[in-house]
Amino acid sequence: MSTKATIEFEGKRIEFPVVKGSEGEHAIDVKSLRQQTGLITFDPGYKNTGSCQSGITFLDGEEGVLRYRGYEINDLAEKANFLEVAYLLIFGELPTHEQHDAFLNDIKEESYIDEDLKKILESFPKSAHPMGVLSSLTSGLTAFSPSSVDVNADDQIYNAIVRIMGKLPILVSWVYRKRMGLPLKYGDYALGYVENIARMMFRKPNKEYVANPIIDDALTKLLILHADHEQNCSTSTVRIVGSSHAGLFASVAAGISALWGPLHGGANQAVVEMLEDIKNDDGDVNKYINKAKDKEDSFRLMGFGHRVYKNFDPRARIIKKTADEVLNDLGVVDPVLDIAKKLEQAALENPYFVDRKLYPNVDFYSGIIYRTMGIPTEMFTVMFALGRLPGWIAQWREMRKQKEPIGRPRQVYVGERKRSFVPFENR
Ligand code: SDX
Repeated sequence: MSTKATIEFEGKRIEFPVVKGSEGEHAIDVKSLRQQTGLITFDPGYKNTGSCQSGITFLDGEEGVLRYRGYEINDLAEKANFLEVAYLLIFGELPTHEQHDAFLNDIKEESYIDEDLKKILESFPKSAHPMGVLSSLTSGLTAFSPSSVDVNADDQIYNAIVRIMGKLPILVSWVYRKRMGLPLKYGDYALGYVENIARMMFRKPNKEYVANPIIDDALTKLLILHADHEQNCSTSTVRIVGSSHAGLFASVAAGISALWGPLHGGANQAVVEMLEDIKNDDGDVNKYINKAKDKEDSFRLMGFGHRVYKNFDPRARIIKKTADEVLNDLGVVDPVLDIAKKLEQAALENPYFVDRKLYPNVDFYSGIIYRTMGIPTEMFTVMFALGRLPGWIAQWREMRKQKEPIGRPRQVYVGERKRSFVPFENR
């Protein structure tokens, strides 16, 4: 393939370099486009625009491929623990035992929250959406520990990383426990990262907590599968906020807000609400398929479709299998899972979805596992944020170390031309 692209405009032909990625992707380098031609590109939603060069995650949407730092997602979900995957995403290599244990211990040293932050949590009504609470608390961390760092000082970056890796799980468990009316507790220093999260969240005040390996394993898989996904909406938010040299905690707080939207991470909550509606509507999946197809109806089949995947989301396959295993192992029968499978089959046989390459995405089955764990629907996206944290950290660190310029897109102005001011008395 050529290494140049030519743009012809108003009788001029200008050549631009074509950059090639390590997996053979090609992009026109338009950094000098406006300076050479006076033109800018126009690409709402950035469907055709690469914002950066990144070495963290590779997706092939046509083939349904997902790799973190070159490792297949299936291998990582089956064979790694979440902290290994977090270390891999952030630092670029799978950790040795020594590196893993040092990372975990450094995180544990930071696994506490300033008691004053509890006052912010207590000021929220129980009815507050957990994502709004989590974003506020994460922003609040900046008041108690510096996250703006000198990016040339590796130790400062490392300290900010272990700080948020240690504190966010506590904030997540406290947001959950406040919603459930449970006392805010810490975990057990001796446990592993995910085992400790499960204990912090699910321990009851009136009896000893007994770990459930089925839950721990399912939670590990879900967190790994959500850990990164290249330049999705919330990750792009973290990168662009960080590009102004805002600190890591403030950038992650912004990412949490972006993830909240029902077109993005909020879809896992919307999927279960949709499946519940179908269940209460005599399980009439075809009625909802037709609603999704109806252009006059704003309803979309939540958990279906993806900006990049035009094939099965590889994460959805693993989560669907895990949902079956978890419900079977726990002896849980959830009619919503059966409705999900019926809906998936009906959609994948329907030309509207087939023609548009709309397949189940990561959000379609994940909520069914969370709900089996006893996690309320409005907490599902908080669990997504917990999994995505290492990816946000990795992408923020890469952006800062690449010394990327501040993100500031152009626009095509379509408003009023110049006009004279009309004094108030004449209006
Ligand atoms: C996540 O980007 C990532 O990587 C995100 C994520 C991650 O890990 O970070 O993977 C996580 O956000 C997964 C997506 C979760 N969202 C949903 O499940 C919400 C439902 N899905 C859609 O709203 C939609 O599919 C998006 C937002 C996911 C993608 O939208 P695009 O790429 O902008 O596509 P589009 O809206 O332009 O749709 C193209 C066509 C349209 O029809 P036509 O105009 O061609 O007739 O497909 C239709 C859309 O109407 N369509 C759907 C649909 N999704 C797309 N129709 C019905 N139901 C749907 N779900």
